Amino acid sequence: MSPVVRLPGLVDVHVHLREPGGEHKETFATGTAAALAGGVTLVLAMPNTSPPIVDERAFMEATRRAQAGARCDYALFLGATHTNAPLSPSLQRRAAGLKIYVNETFGPLRVTSLPALIAHMRQWRGPGPVAVHAEGLMVPAIVALAAMTGARVHFCHISRAAELAVIRAAKEQGLPVTCEVTPHHLWLTEQDVPRLGSFGQMRPPLATPADRDALWANLDVIDCVATDHAPHTREEKAGPAPPPGVPGLETMLPLLLTAVHEGRLTMERLVALTHTCPMAIFNLPPQPDTWVDVDLGAEWVVPEQGWHTRVDWSPFAGLHLRGRVVRTQLRGDVVYESGRVIASPGSGRDVRTTTHFTGSRQKGVTDV
Ligand code: DOR
Ligand code: ZN
Ligand code: ZN
Repeated sequence: MSPVVRLPGLVDVHVHLREPGGEHKETFATGTAAALAGGVTLVLAMPNTSPPIVDERAFMEATRRAQAGARCDYALFLGATHTNAPLSPSLQRRAAGLKIYVNETFGPLRVTSLPALIAHMRQWRGPGPVAVHAEGLMVPAIVALAAMTGARVHFCHISRAAELAVIRAAKEQGLPVTCEVTPHHLWLTEQDVPRLGSFGQMRPPLATPADRDALWANLDVIDCVATDHAPHTREEKAGPAPPPGVPGLETMLPLLLTAVHEGRLTMERLVALTHTCPMAIFNLPPQPDTWVDVDLGAEWVVPEQGWHTRVDWSPFAGLHLRGRVVRTQLRGDVVYESGRVIASPGSGRDVRTTTHFTGSRQKGVTDV
C-alpha cells in the first residue's frame, strides 16, 4: 500500500468552462467534474464565452448557468472591452477578477487601445486582481501601466524566460504584480509540436526548452500554477482551422506530484502554488473540510481518453506519472472517489456571493 497524503483542495485560477455558447466543448457540469477528479475544488472561470461576459446581463446569465451546473466552487471573471470601463462596483465585487486580453487568442475579446487599458486599470477595485493575457513586449507594457495606475496585476500563463525576468524585476521594485504558469508550459516545448500537431497548439504557444527550463529555475518568482484548461473537441483540433487550447484540469496535480517525486518541487511549494497563493491573490474565502487525498506511489501512464472533461483528450497522453488523486472532499462531502464523480450539478457555490461556508447541509449567506 503506497502512502496516501492529504492536501488542501486545489484552486485553479484559470479555466475555460465554455458556457454559454460552447457547450459542445465543455459545460459547468462537465468541467467541474474534471476539476474534482483532478483534486481542484475551486475554479475561476474565464469570460471568453459566446457571448462574452462583459456586462451585467451576460454576467447574470453565466451566473445562472453556473449555479445550475457547477459541482465545485467557483467565481466568474468579467472581460474587458474597449467600451465597458468603468464596470459597476457591484459587478466588480461579484467577479473573480477583471480579465484583459492584450494579445490575440481564442474568441473576440481584446483590448488594444492604450486609453482603454488605462481606464480599466484605473477603475478596477474588485476583490480580485486585473488578470492579463500578455505576451512578449506586452508584459513590460502592462508592468509600466501597473506602476502608473496602481492596479494589482496578475499575469496569466507566463511562458518565456524574458517575460519572467521582467516580472522578477517588477517584483524587486515593489510593484503589486503576480504570475501563474501552466503545466503545459512546464512539461512541453516546441519540440513536442511535430508529435502533437494542432493538439499542441495554444496561446501562448509552447516555447523553447530553454524557456521551459527557465520556468523551473525561477519557481521562486512564480506565484501559482494554473491549468488554462481550454477544451476544444478532437474534431475541431484536427480540422482546417484548429482553435488554440488544451485541457488540463485532470492532469495538473499528478504532474506536480511527479515533479515532487523527482525532487524538482517540494510538497510545501506545491501547496503554495496551487492553494495558498491563489487564495491570497484572488482574495478567496477558505473552504472548510475540503481536501484531496493523493496516492504518492501510484505509477500510471496518461491515457488518450477516459477523462471527465467533455473533450476527452489530453496533450500529456503517454507521459509516465507518479502520484494520483484518490479522493476529493468538498465542504464535508466526498465528491470524487476512485474514478467516480459523486457531486451533482448545482452543488458548487459561487465564492463571491457566499460570505461564509458553514457546512454542506446549511445554506450559505449571500451579500448581494
Ligand atoms: O490557448 C488558449 N486557449 N489560450 C487562451 O488564451 C484562450 C484559450 C481558449 O479559450 O481556448
Ligand atoms: Zn490567455
Ligand atoms: Zn485562458
